[in-house]
Amino acid sequence: MSPTVPLPSAEPENPLWQQEARRQFPIVIAHPELAYLDSAATSQKPRAVLEAVQTYLTTSNANAGRGTYPWANRTTELVESTRDRIKEFLHDPEPDRSGVHFTSGTTEGLRTVARDWLVPCLADGDEILVPYGDHRANLDPWIEARRLLAERGVQVRVQALPYQTGSGDYDHRALDRAVGPRTRFVAATHVHHVYGGDMNVHRIREAVGPDVAICLDAAQSIGHLPVHVDDPSLDVDFVVFSGHKAMALPGSGAIWARNARGPEFRPDGWQGTPNTTGIVSLKAALDWLDTVGPERVAHWTTLLATRLTDRLGRLGSYEVLGCQASLSADSTLAAAQRRRGIVTFRHHDIPSDDLGFILFSHGFMVRADNLCQAGADARDASVRVSLHVYNTVEEIDRLLSVLASLA
Ligand SMILES: Cc1ncc(COP(=O)(O)O)c(C=O)c1O
Repeated sequence: MSPTVPLPSAEPENPLWQQEARRQFPIVIAHPELAYLDSAATSQKPRAVLEAVQTYLTTSNANAGRGTYPWANRTTELVESTRDRIKEFLHDPEPDRSGVHFTSGTTEGLRTVARDWLVPCLADGDEILVPYGDHRANLDPWIEARRLLAERGVQVRVQALPYQTGSGDYDHRALDRAVGPRTRFVAATHVHHVYGGDMNVHRIREAVGPDVAICLDAAQSIGHLPVHVDDPSLDVDFVVFSGHKAMALPGSGAIWARNARGPEFRPDGWQGTPNTTGIVSLKAALDWLDTVGPERVAHWTTLLATRLTDRLGRLGSYEVLGCQASLSADSTLAAAQRRRGIVTFRHHDIPSDDLGFILFSHGFMVRADNLCQAGADARDASVRVSLHVYNTVEEIDRLLSVLASLA
């Protein structure tokens, strides 16, 4: 279970710390007439990240791990110290930094785990469990792994991680039944990019036992809530995330590997020049996020999401998808703690892509399509509001008044 998030209060105001955090985003401050509500797609960048990149490029830009002159040494040092920073951010107490690998984002990270770790690990008759209703970035690599193995004559069974109907959570009881003696691996998601729910990864560990490897797609949780790998309730083997969703530059991201179950994770082949500016931005982003505090970000975005969900539910013309809908009916502490800063909905009559355009004409930047959900097509389009620390109560209330006028 993720760390406890306090229950949202009924009438939130933007607290001082949040106002100060919002002021750190030049693009947000420059456009008070707009509301950026698409942070699940990518986050805005705080001044500290922009400055770190500018400082690096204007004082010591060079390649990493190659030259011996000061700029090259400085770049190498920045890259290596970012591995340590990632471990620290994830509360990994082990001193060995070999388990941290840079990638261009979650998609490449998951593909790398599949190709370079899972494929060599599996034997004929092994089984893996994968999420057929999550982001397709967390499905395609595992299906591809099965194909690669089949080419070598190794037949692996891919089972669908079962879901509960309606809530968007995995069905942990059905999971108990799906796990067998040949289950070797589970691919799971920390926070669902459509339903906004915390997917209760601790229940997956309970179901599969201590020996099965779990790979966590943390694209929607890093930077949004504490992700601590020393927490026994987050006993996973890989954490994969995108820097750009966590306030760093696009093209940055990382895989963290525990290296305790199965062989040590070593991506294959020559890695080439790392994305040094992206890595510099990632370090600055993690520093900034730790200063603000992922707990506070989680509390704040949950509070805004709750306000939106509850009021949207009362308008009558909207269907809120996934756990956000079920939570309005179930306001117990445990359920409220599962709610995160993503709210996805449909209008009963207005197509979602039209609704997206209408909302932008009022200054709201939301996502309106099939959200890259595995198996979804244009008919499954919905509107997603995804929040971060810079969003405000006023933005939510303005959005609600436009949505009410369309109801
Ligand atoms: C849950 C989840 N996984 C994976 C991805 C893919 O991330 P990226 O495009 O940064 O590789 C996303 C992006 O939205 C996501 O939400």
